[in-house]
Amino acid sequence: MKFTMNKRLASLPPYIFVHLANLKRKAAAAGHTVIDLGQGSPDLPSPDYVVAAAQASISDAKTHGYPVANGSLEYRKAIAGWYKRRFGAQLDPETEVLPLIGSKEGLGHLLMALLDPGDAVLVPSPSYPAHINGVLIAGGVPKLMPLKEENAFLPDLDATLPEDLAAAKVMIINYPNNPTGATLPDLTLLKKALGLAAKHGFLVVYDNAYSEIVFDGYKAPSIFELPGAKEHAIEFHSTSKSYSMAGWRLGFAVGNPQAVAALGKLKGFLDYGVPTFLQKAAIAALEGPDDYVVKASAVYQERRDALVAALKELGWEVTPPRAAMYLWTRLPRQARHMSSVEFCERLIAEQGLVISPGTGFGPEGEGFVRFSLIQPPAVLREAVARIGTYLKALGAPAKASA
Ligand SMILES: Cc1ncc(COP(=O)(O)O)c(C=O)c1O
Repeated sequence: MKFTMNKRLASLPPYIFVHLANLKRKAAAAGHTVIDLGQGSPDLPSPDYVVAAAQASISDAKTHGYPVANGSLEYRKAIAGWYKRRFGAQLDPETEVLPLIGSKEGLGHLLMALLDPGDAVLVPSPSYPAHINGVLIAGGVPKLMPLKEENAFLPDLDATLPEDLAAAKVMIINYPNNPTGATLPDLTLLKKALGLAAKHGFLVVYDNAYSEIVFDGYKAPSIFELPGAKEHAIEFHSTSKSYSMAGWRLGFAVGNPQAVAALGKLKGFLDYGVPTFLQKAAIAALEGPDDYVVKASAVYQERRDALVAALKELGWEVTPPRAAMYLWTRLPRQARHMSSVEFCERLIAEQGLVISPGTGFGPEGEGFVRFSLIQPPAVLREAVARIGTYLKALGAPAKASA
């Protein structure tokens, strides 16, 4: 066969959530009522005023043609307005704001727009899979920045090799973090990253997808709260998590005008941008009342508390996250002879419970698993009961001392 995947794509493992979805189908076919705490797809309904805005707009024939590729000025102004209100950041809607078909699309395409073959990118490990795989697909070389538990899952930039800093074209940073749920205690890490970017000339890509899902009074920053950040940084955001709109595919990139222009240029060849009626929906979300995200965060916080309490009851001590929608924890002690993939595959097959293996997020994820807080407390408690049964079947005592 002449047509095969190119070598870069062929070398990637199957996308973790596709693998989990296959195992989930098999478990359901085998008769399990599956509980899925795998992918971080919010289960809450999108705001009704957003649905209404989309419905009103799609009934208007003026929205039926191609959209303006880089987004309507009205939408770009709504994004800039939200950044100003939320973070006090000043953005030029003409040159520093770009609507995306979800931030995942934008992250992948930005790497394609910036990297030449062999270019180095500093990427956290573990990380959201698109961070590492986006670099590989674009022909770049990931230089992993380990996120270690003893360092509160923050990268140790002082330990980054000088040759990697000198070679890097891009550094990716993501807080509130997927998969670890870690948060920035203050702006120190971002200041340091910007200082290194100024010295070495790379672009800081700050993935801020979870800034609105926060617990215990935590407030997540934007990198653009720091003066001068626009010289060295671009930030990604979306309505997926904040407004439970993951299926709507609405994201945006803001910041450094050169990076925004490079991404916009590539997208101009590949897509027609965000459908007009969806741009209207996103405007309704960004300009709507602030209480939606407050209520959504309270729902996730209640789930976090329920899951942490149930795991504790089982003897599995975990650290509660202060943001995002994940609980990241080491395997229980009596399962530590297993890889995280083996632990999760057997859990799905034997108990119909889907959680994500840590290595799906990079090599530093070995020994960890991730629970998504996408089910109500009662279902989370049922999930933990199934883990208790599973650990018993593993030949371990039901108390899972961590
Ligand atoms: C850290 C992070 N960034 C970006 C995304 C992509 O989100 P979306 O494409 O829905 O905006 C996700 C999705 O889970 C994520 O976890």
